[in-house]
Amino acid sequence: TDPAVIRNFCIIAHIDHGKSTLADRMLQITGVVEQRQMRAQYLDRMDIERERGITIKSQAVRLPWASTEGDGSDTTHILNMIDTPGHVDFTYEVSRSLAACEGCILLVDAAQGIEAQTLANLYLAMENDLTIIPVLNKIDLPAAQPEKFAAELAGLIGCDPSDVLRVSAKTGEGVAELLDKVVREVPAPVGVKDAPARAMIFDSVYDSYRGVVTYVKVVDGQLNKRERIRMMSTGAQHELLEIGTNSPEMTPADGLSVGEVGYLITGVKDVRQSKVGDTITQYTKGATEALGGYKDPKPMVFSGLYPLDGSDYPLLRDALDKLQLNDAALVYEPETSAALGFGFRVGFLGLLHLEVIRERLEREFGLDLIATAPNVIYRVTMEDGTEHEVTNPSEFPTGKIDSVHEPVVRATILAPSEFIGAIMELCQNRRGALLGMDYLSEDRVEIRYTLPLAEVVFDFFDQLKSKTRGYASLDYEPTGEQTADLVKVDILLHGDKVDAFSAICHKDKAYAYGVRLVAKLRELIPRQAFEVPVQAAIGARVIARETIRAIRKDVLAKCYGGDISRKRKLLEKQKEGKKRMKMVGSVEVPQEAFIAVLSSD
Ligand code: GTP
Repeated sequence: TDPAVIRNFCIIAHIDHGKSTLADRMLQITGVVEQRQMRAQYLDRMDIERERGITIKSQAVRLPWASTEGDGSDTTHILNMIDTPGHVDFTYEVSRSLAACEGCILLVDAAQGIEAQTLANLYLAMENDLTIIPVLNKIDLPAAQPEKFAAELAGLIGCDPSDVLRVSAKTGEGVAELLDKVVREVPAPVGVKDAPARAMIFDSVYDSYRGVVTYVKVVDGQLNKRERIRMMSTGAQHELLEIGTNSPEMTPADGLSVGEVGYLITGVKDVRQSKVGDTITQYTKGATEALGGYKDPKPMVFSGLYPLDGSDYPLLRDALDKLQLNDAALVYEPETSAALGFGFRVGFLGLLHLEVIRERLEREFGLDLIATAPNVIYRVTMEDGTEHEVTNPSEFPTGKIDSVHEPVVRATILAPSEFIGAIMELCQNRRGALLGMDYLSEDRVEIRYTLPLAEVVFDFFDQLKSKTRGYASLDYEPTGEQTADLVKVDILLHGDKVDAFSAICHKDKAYAYGVRLVAKLRELIPRQAFEVPVQAAIGARVIARETIRAIRKDVLAKCYGGDISRKRKLLEKQKEGKKRMKMVGSVEVPQEAFIAVLSSD
């Protein structure tokens, strides 16, 4: 294909602003999906995505488009629509999808206005020098305020409000005009035709039938079927078993050339062998310099995952192995907890990633899990100069600590201006440092803070939502680390440390945390045959204490003189009850207590 007729673009939008609906409409009016095959959200294939309305994996679709404007030439253009993942945790994948495009559609709900995540992605698109096409969607809604939000978008990207297109993805109004505008305004890709091939991987998906399907944009040269290729980050070589385009089903081709977007299959079984951001070249006479921007995925948030039923441990391991085939960012290693038994310490890109993996483990693999509270990675330097990376709070070193580093993020919050006070208060409480504030329109602001990631993973989003009646939106990206005054708080039951409850806290918050957890545990743990002190401690210093009083629980006393079968029944019942208990040292703790303490903050 002549690169001059190719247009590579993506759609940036907030969840629910109508990206999938618009994509569906484009598939329909370009004729790649026939009317009768059309079902809502054609491109979101995973069930969990469909149910939760989030798009986790990006894909690319090739749409042939004969412009409806009579510009003399009736050239058919090739539009490659590249889907971008919508959530903060996947910023790196978004940045690679954007890097594969020359233009992007900024899609905003005409009744809602732009949201933080969209804004963050818009900035990414601007950094990548993409042509931006601002579009208001849902103009059919009675609540739409196109004038107001067109002005807002125009102010953000520096265009005239009349340049903001107005469409309804639902009715199809304005969608053909939008495709024409993409042809007119998005530049064609440029690359060197006769150079060794360089193709950028912007997505990599595991398919149980075909192995890994890798999505690429060819920047220079050409990749051909049956050729040997090389992954430039690792030097690994593979044979190109199949190469082609999606329209929207996989359609094999002889090759892909400059500017083209498509998929390839090499038979590898694990997405870590075909990583997002990597450059592919020919094995012989290949390129010597990779395209820029490659990064290894780095987990930011850790949690211990334990099967409720210890005998499910092998199942959990198999399930994680399977999920990892499709998820290069998922890392895990076995871990043993005195309280919870055998499990895994699992690393995630962020909270949503954690939630999605956990839900898939429970739903697709039928596992019942206990997850420990999420924590970040701490870098601890000791006075003797040794350094530790701590991914599990119970492994926080004891002894003479010189300094502790924790990861920080730059958070962008968008909200109606009436909530400025509430938002600033929340951020200050979470040890935030204000970076700046801008008005998007007279009643909406963008507030930027540096925040410790540990404070963000700890119910920050819920708090933000509740303090702003649901109006605020949040985006954040990692920006490095800072030193902080952090301590480990341990919880002791009858003098024994319960590893699953250890947490790293800021010194000023350690006391409150200890008091809260100790009180909660006293409520949740039933009386035992002896008195059980519940304590919170920093090192050897106890900072909070409660006591669970002793009872004598003689279930048979009630049956004195009663018949034997009733006695047996009671004993059986007591045995059943014991099964759901975990022994922590000498104390019986019901499993529900772990779940309650670890899940609700
Ligand atoms: P995610 O896939 O969750 O990121 O959401 P999305 O941005 O793809 O949104 P989606 O296409 O699922 O649309 C969200 C909701 O808005 C759905 O209920 C759509 O039916 C509705 N919707 C989308 N476009 C329009 C429109 O033009 N008008 C109206 N009235 N509703 C629309």
